[in-house]
Amino acid sequence: MRRLLIAGNWKMNKTVPEAIELVRELKERLKGVEDRDILVCPPFTALYPVGRELEGSSILMGAQNMFYEEKGAFTGEISPVMLKDVGCSYVILGHSERRHIFGESDELINRKVISAVNHNLIPILCIGETLEEREKGETRQVVERQVREGLKGLKPEDEFVIAYEPVWAIGTGRSATPEMAQEVHTFIRDVLTELFEKEKAEGVRILYGGSVKPENAKGLLEMPDIDGALVGGASLKAESFSAIVKTTL
Ligand code: 13P
Repeated sequence: MRRLLIAGNWKMNKTVPEAIELVRELKERLKGVEDRDILVCPPFTALYPVGRELEGSSILMGAQNMFYEEKGAFTGEISPVMLKDVGCSYVILGHSERRHIFGESDELINRKVISAVNHNLIPILCIGETLEEREKGETRQVVERQVREGLKGLKPEDEFVIAYEPVWAIGTGRSATPEMAQEVHTFIRDVLTELFEKEKAEGVRILYGGSVKPENAKGLLEMPDIDGALVGGASLKAESFSAIVKTTL
């Protein structure tokens, strides 16, 4: 059985006091929720204080990006060692905003994925097609390429998570329907079966992301191959994020 993972990607939001306030409220509201993994991904500047605030709590912490080297002359970058140091156990990689605004390639993302697992961080590899690609009927082709390229070189024993986030659904209020998402998730699992053995593919969590809200979370999370959610906007408020976390309880 795959354990549900509900992750909040705060993106470039929250000062340190705001981050602490949010995480305190989440701890309060999510007390006693133990049958699923809950993850918050604050901006880099808030990782250390949020990590301290989460000590002794079951809420996990991840980063939104990282560079693949451990240290050195890479101005402006953050390494996996630094993320571990402040208490991260996950790292989001290849988010569509990294791919489209900052030009990250499948090859760069793959290097980061490998480095993350080598440093005991669980990568959440984000994939998804643009509206144009969907309309041209290229969804499967794009998603398959991103999965194959992103995971190149990983071994079956390496732990990773996939987040399917159709670009047209991110921040638009227009979510994929549960059926649309389920169809792509099944396809992703088929690709994983080709890459690794079936048993491994069956154990990989595939999250859905893109305008997940308390109102649509239940329908999505009830689908057999949707193993959690990567939530953007609705993760910025304790009320909506905790409602999503508790949705199928
Ligand atoms: P929204 O939930 O704001 O659409 O963002 C989704 C996302 O990009 C999560 O990584």
